[in-house]
Amino acid sequence: MLIGVLTSGGDAPGMNAAVRAVVRTTIFHGHQVVGIRRGLHGLMQSDMFLMDTSSVADIIYRGGTILYTGRSDEFKTADGQKRAFGILRDSAIDGLVLIGGDGTVRAAKVIDDAGVPVICVPGTIDNDIAHSDESIGFDTAVNTICDAVDKVRDTAEALERTFIVEVMGRESGFLALASGVACGAESIMVPEFGIDYERVCQRLRNAVARRKRHSIIILAEGAGNAPDVAAEIRRRTGYDLRVITLGHIQRGGTPTAQDRVLASTLGYQAVELLVQGVHGKLVGHENGKVSIVDLGVAASSKKTLNQESFRMAEVLSAT
Ligand code: F6P
Repeated sequence: MLIGVLTSGGDAPGMNAAVRAVVRTTIFHGHQVVGIRRGLHGLMQSDMFLMDTSSVADIIYRGGTILYTGRSDEFKTADGQKRAFGILRDSAIDGLVLIGGDGTVRAAKVIDDAGVPVICVPGTIDNDIAHSDESIGFDTAVNTICDAVDKVRDTAEALERTFIVEVMGRESGFLALASGVACGAESIMVPEFGIDYERVCQRLRNAVARRKRHSIIILAEGAGNAPDVAAEIRRRTGYDLRVITLGHIQRGGTPTAQDRVLASTLGYQAVELLVQGVHGKLVGHENGKVSIVDLGVAASSKKTLNQESFRMAEVLSAT
C-alpha cells in the first residue's frame, strides 16, 4: 500500500507532529509513504518524495511544516482536479492523508468522491472545523496570543491606556474568544455576535469610574476593521486607544504539548483507518476522544461559537 500525505492551507503549529505520525504509522504497518510538497498545488505538479522514519526525525517540536503548504485556486477548477486525479492515479497512491483547514476538508471530499481514499485531519489555528473541538495549532496560537497580550497589558497599565488587539480567525471568533478568556480581556469582539459598541463603551466607562484606566479589547479579524473599530470607540468615549495587529506570529512557534499530542493522535488514527479500508472521513477530537465523521457531513456543517463562554468572559472581566 502507498499512502500520500500533504499539508494544505495556512500552516499550523503541530502539522509536523501529524506528518511524523502518518509516516511512522504507515511504515509500522509495512507500507510505503510519500510526502507531497506545497499542498494541493504540489500535488498537481507531482512534487512528491518517498519518506522513511528518519525523514521525520526531530520535527515533533518544530512549527511550520516540513512539507510546505499552500492554497490552490487551480484545484477549485475542473481542469485542476482532473490533473490532480491523473497524478494520483499515475503515482499509484492508494490512500491520502490531508492535513489542513476548511478548504482542505472540501478538497478531501472531492478527491475521495473521485475514487482515491482520503482521510482528513483538521489543522488550522482558526479552529473552525465542525466535528472537532480542537484543530491542530489552535492551542499553540491561543498561547502565543496570551503571551503577547500579557506583555501589552504591562504597558497598558503603566500608561493607563486601552488597547485593541486584533487576532486572526478569518470569519470565526474561536481564537478571539479563547484568548480573550485566557487573558482576562475586558471585551471580546467576534463576527458571530457582532459588535455592540454601546455595551463595550459602557464597560470602558464603568472601568474608569472604578479607577481602572487600562483595558484590553480582543478583536477577531472577521469582526471588523481594527482602525475603524478604534475610531468609533474613541469617538464615543474620548479615550486614548492603541491598536495592535498580532498577525502571522500567531501561526508560528513551537507547538504546545497539547497540540503535539493531538497531532500525533490524529495522524496515527488517519493511517489506522486507511489501513483498515476506511476512508471519506474527517478524524477529529470531540468530548475528549477521537471522533470520525463523514467528510460530506464535516464539509457542510458549521461550527458554532459557545455563547455561554462569551457571557462568562464578560462576567469574569467585570471590574
Ligand atoms: O486560516 C489561517 C489564517 O491564519 C487565518 O486566521 C487568516 O485570516 C489567514 O490564514 C491569513 O492568510 P495568509 O497567511 O494568506 O495571509
